[in-house]
Amino acid sequence: MTNELIINKPDDMHLHLREGELLGFVLKDTAKQFARAIVMPNLKLPVTTVNLARNYYDAIKSFGYDFQPLMTLYLTSELSKEEIKRAKESEIIHGIKLYPAGVTTNSKDGITSIDSCFNLFEEMQKYNLPLLIHGEVSDSKVDIFDREKIFIEKYLIKICQHFPSLRVVFEHISTKEAVDFVLESSVNVAATITPQHAMLNRNDLLSGGIKPHNYCLPVLKREKHQKAILQSAISGNPKFFLGTDSAPHLTSQKESACGCAGVYSAKTAIEIYADIFDQNDALDMLPNFCNKFGADFYSLPYNQTKIRLERKDYEIPRQLEFNGDKITPFLAGQTIHWQIAEMPH
Ligand code: NCD
Ligand code: ZN
Repeated sequence: MTNELIINKPDDMHLHLREGELLGFVLKDTAKQFARAIVMPNLKLPVTTVNLARNYYDAIKSFGYDFQPLMTLYLTSELSKEEIKRAKESEIIHGIKLYPAGVTTNSKDGITSIDSCFNLFEEMQKYNLPLLIHGEVSDSKVDIFDREKIFIEKYLIKICQHFPSLRVVFEHISTKEAVDFVLESSVNVAATITPQHAMLNRNDLLSGGIKPHNYCLPVLKREKHQKAILQSAISGNPKFFLGTDSAPHLTSQKESACGCAGVYSAKTAIEIYADIFDQNDALDMLPNFCNKFGADFYSLPYNQTKIRLERKDYEIPRQLEFNGDKITPFLAGQTIHWQIAEMPH
């Protein structure tokens, strides 16, 4: 039995770092676990320009952690072709994120007509700047459990056919249809996988009492989807890589009559993935999933610093204190079996 893993420090290819005081809180947790992260742009004032991305980058760097933020722009209908060129030239921006308007937290400024973005996709293809997609339709008439599947049928197939060289990341996939779509697509199409979508299904959200801390978007689906996602994560296929979608909200905002979507996993993310892989006899697949496939997709060099993971029981805290408030971490109160440990001297 393997009791120790020494691996290159992982990358989180989908992370919400937030802003203000919460930024410092999330960064502290993230920098322990990850060398770099693709930073989501859905701030209260969305990161829609290179200048805003640079300000956000500077704010992140000002905390002084040994951590590299990989910035993204928030796609709006106002985005210009010139700004896409500037984004590419900036060297800090690694992708452009498409949120269908109204689909999730801070997405009201997102896209209402995907067809009208085709000229921008053209430009992104030209500059080899990846398109990151929250792949759900936001039509309130579509059943929430079908929104990802319908997005694939209505938009994703078309986008990928029209722009065969455009690099696309299908973010936080939650269905077997999404896994199949990625498998059938070219090497330019990849997906991020969160711990919650690999580990849980909708029973963990709705059976035996509602569990607001397992509520995120895309919403957890039935077990057959969870199994497909888990299999893709541990398969060793480079199209599937780590992206936590860690997205903190105050405990009070989640335990509410209208609770926010988002799971805060940043504090113990790599330990949780190690547990998932271990329980499925796939620990040997963890390193590439967490520090190679994502870097390859984004054309980044591999991290050189190492972390050590040790087999050791650890009970995830029930609550984290934040600024006189509380944040409930993913799997609060549960015991996981791997922990980051000091490197041997
Ligand atoms: C994210 C958030 O809170 O910013 N929430 C979530 O449930 N995943 C937004 C997102 O990625 O959809
Ligand atoms: Zn997200």
